[in-house]
Amino acid sequence: MNMQIRPARPSDTGACGSIIHAAFARIADDHGFPPDFPTLEAALGLAESFITNSKIFGIVAEMDGKVLGSNFLMEGDAIRGVGPITVAPEAQGAGVGRALMQAVLDRAQGSAGVRLLQDSFNMRSIALYASLGFEVREPVLVISGRPGATVPAGITVRAMRAEDLDACDALCQRVHGISRRQELVDSMTTLTPMVGERDGRIKAYMTAPDFWIANHGVAESAEDMAALITGAGSVVEVVSFLLPTRQADLFRWCLAQGMTAVKPMTLMSAGSYNEPVGTYLPSVFY
Ligand SMILES: CC(C)(COP(=O)(O)OP(=O)(O)OC[C@H]1O[C@@H](n2cnc3c(N)ncnc32)[C@H](O)[C@@H]1OP(=O)(O)O)[C@@H](O)C(=O)NCCC(=O)NCCS
Repeated sequence: MNMQIRPARPSDTGACGSIIHAAFARIADDHGFPPDFPTLEAALGLAESFITNSKIFGIVAEMDGKVLGSNFLMEGDAIRGVGPITVAPEAQGAGVGRALMQAVLDRAQGSAGVRLLQDSFNMRSIALYASLGFEVREPVLVISGRPGATVPAGITVRAMRAEDLDACDALCQRVHGISRRQELVDSMTTLTPMVGERDGRIKAYMTAPDFWIANHGVAESAEDMAALITGAGSVVEVVSFLLPTRQADLFRWCLAQGMTAVKPMTLMSAGSYNEPVGTYLPSVFY
């Protein structure tokens, strides 16, 4: 195939956004799940913000001047996050996705590790990632809704502030064993991060309470995370996040609050990986 992989440019935004929208709509529709990007505008917005972000490496696959697909690698912190990778529905199954994944893995050579989340019902993507060296780490569910509980006494849920950065980063390092400092910094300008505080100490945070795709969070305990989710529910209309379901107590708590399980995903990693200690919610990267 006469195909070329090259860096994504701002002028690719329209083509990339259309493919992201169409590819995710197709796989979700085929399996009876809601699409990640319900509108073309949402997919175009993501394509534009990723292509113009200097901390994200973006590439497209092109043939005869036509963009066939794109892929992105988040490079702000030590662990690299991959995605979204999409190939136009009519070009799928012909090696384009493999070339786009190999290119970001080549780029990530020497990094501390590479992670991603994939739709568990997508047999093509899981096979592709496993064959390229990724390992299955966690079963995850997209959870959404508004908890019925009230925030327990003694914990305050509020917007994250610049002066919380060190405490949030330290909490993340305790739970995850890695820093996501750059992501935290970025979240304060582009998202609406929140913290849960007890006795003047930050016990939990999440970066995007109503946008599961970007919403990573950590907490010292399941109770602290539940309190944060509850508090977020009084600020945003619908709280949404990715829940690793082996955190069985938190999963049962979500169900008892009337929250909805939306779709299954799988956390995969290549390179170094350490089991988190404490409670965590991955974003769509990790
Ligand atoms: C996932 C996606 C990016 C893959 O791109 P693609 O161009 O279709 O994939 P490729 O043809 O390069 O590779 C698919 C591989 O999976 C293999 N495969 C496909 N279905 C399989 C199955 N059921 N079991 C085992 N292997 C399978 C193929 O044989 C191929 O492997 P090969 O290169 O060794 O032949 C693309 O299909 C897509 O855009 N899907 C919708 C959006 C999406 O889900 N993106 C991923 C988000 S995590």
